[in-house]
Amino acid sequence: MCGIVGFVGKRQAAPILLDGLSKLEYRGYDSAGLAIRNGDEPAEVVKSKGRLKVLSEKTDNGNALIGNCGIGHTRWATHGEPSRTNAHPHVSGNCTGTGSGEVESEVVGVHNGIIENFKELKEKLMKHGYLFYSQTDTEVVIKLVDYYYKKYTHSPQEAIAKTMVRVRGSYALCLMFKSHPGEIWVARKDSPMIIGISDGETYVASDVPAILKYTRNVYYIGNLEMAKLTPGEVTFYNLDGDVIEKELTEIKWDAESAEKGGYEHFMMKEIHEQPKAITDTLNSLIKDEKIDIDSIGLSNDEVRNISQIYIVACGSAYHTGVVTQYVMEDIAKIPVRVELASEFRYRKLLLDKNGLVIIVSQSGETADSLAALRLAKDKGIKTLAIVNVVGSSIAREADNVLYTLAGPEIAVATTKAYSAQLIAGYLLAIQFAYIKNEIAEEYYKNLIKELYTLPQKIEKVLEDKERIQWFVAKQANAQDVFYIGRGIDYAVCLEGSLKMKEISYVHSEAYAAGELKHGTISLIEDGTLVIGVLTQSELYEKTVSNMVECKSRGAYLMGLTSYGHYEIEDTADFTVYIPKTDEHFTASLAVIPLQLMGYYLSVSRGLDVDKPRNLAKSVTVE
Ligand code: G6P
Repeated sequence: MCGIVGFVGKRQAAPILLDGLSKLEYRGYDSAGLAIRNGDEPAEVVKSKGRLKVLSEKTDNGNALIGNCGIGHTRWATHGEPSRTNAHPHVSGNCTGTGSGEVESEVVGVHNGIIENFKELKEKLMKHGYLFYSQTDTEVVIKLVDYYYKKYTHSPQEAIAKTMVRVRGSYALCLMFKSHPGEIWVARKDSPMIIGISDGETYVASDVPAILKYTRNVYYIGNLEMAKLTPGEVTFYNLDGDVIEKELTEIKWDAESAEKGGYEHFMMKEIHEQPKAITDTLNSLIKDEKIDIDSIGLSNDEVRNISQIYIVACGSAYHTGVVTQYVMEDIAKIPVRVELASEFRYRKLLLDKNGLVIIVSQSGETADSLAALRLAKDKGIKTLAIVNVVGSSIAREADNVLYTLAGPEIAVATTKAYSAQLIAGYLLAIQFAYIKNEIAEEYYKNLIKELYTLPQKIEKVLEDKERIQWFVAKQANAQDVFYIGRGIDYAVCLEGSLKMKEISYVHSEAYAAGELKHGTISLIEDGTLVIGVLTQSELYEKTVSNMVECKSRGAYLMGLTSYGHYEIEDTADFTVYIPKTDEHFTASLAVIPLQLMGYYLSVSRGLDVDKPRNLAKSVTVE
């Protein structure tokens, strides 16, 4: 996590860096800092604890810091508590207390990632007279670069290369050297970083939205590579110091999609962007009424050979995997296991050689998902990534990639990327079923047609959002919420419950409806809100019975079902209906009211919807 930015060019750097950081706050927001250079003068470092706002106020929105070259950081603490001292940038000088020793420092830098062997390196550096003022692993790297810089040839490239060989872990590093004004040096391993370029100006950032306003032309820097940034130019090097050539890529996302566009929060804007995310993802894969999986590099023969699918992901991406499992097994008749990436990577895996490992990730940078992908590749299993961020690590390393076209997602709680991932799962299931002759041509065509109706059906659910807002206002003091459902409805519950707890801090649990009576039902008290999701006709009656069991113990019931099932009102105290669709696709509709519930409860409690406490959008640490 953490967001880093850098700029060197013609304009004043600090306002541009602060603006970039504001787009990266989703990556961490417990402290922030800037280091700005004015010509040959040493860097001026300003840091503050708390949100970026504090730093902006302190620097008059950056206007108080003069200079055309600089780096910045927004932090999500890993080593060392959130504090001004632990905030980045860090400096190589032996300053004490506040970390403002930039005048005597050769190196100043910001870092995203984790240096695993920082303790051992710290001891080594202390023996060489380095003193440490912070608890961070970053300060160790900065001082190590300084150590190699002074020990060898005073070349930033060599000092960074030696550091890269010496450290273990992950990093996106952005450095400035006092003796090299007008230059920013960057290095990367396993943490995201892109470099943007426009006329006479160069940018670096952890993610595209930070620079989208200024340029769409970017370079992706590879693992174990470094680069020198000067105004309007970039030179890339490998670890041996050889210059390497890179291709410029044009980002298709428009700048507006990274702005709030009149909505109070990114989350609400992104909830409303779900119809578009779905349409765009469908259009990218459906050609002439057929799903074109050739474009993602899977041949029909390869599909016929798949004997087992492993879907591996974290968080909401994992929840979409659970939906895909039900759909895939039902229509394509391929066995599917859904695995949490953090578990998958450490299990003694018995992977089927004819298996397909599907990694699902919005960011394409989640550390556990990336590690799971590498593990599968090491074991010689074919891999397919479902990813939203073009050029991300997972997208680049997987054998095949299916891009979801949700556009940039800024709110920490995912909505539109989740919806686009569901679509990706449906499309794979339908096409695999078709290739394996498990479904007839007519049904195949009908399923595709039905997918195209989902955006408009989501609009319909959204039209009714005030009703949900009204209901949620009455629940503002809820302590516990339970979500129950079976099959696909259970998968939806997992996501609904996560949306509730992550942004409104209300304890919630998702339970397979039949499992409740094996323990959790003891938690139901007078007035406890239980939400039953009932979109699967075959399982409808069963879930109703489980809801009744809760009601007899005092629960207050909400039913979420499709239009037509009006008899639910005999049981539930409050009902939300979604339009009818093929039952394989109901998750796409049922999740919408649940996203809205999380959102409205968070707003009614006065919480920071887009940046919930303790969380980060992209989890690039284990
Ligand atoms: C974080 C986010 C979740 C997301 C998960 C996986 O926890 O807050 O919204 O589902 O990471 O992220 P990914 O980028 O791999 O989809």
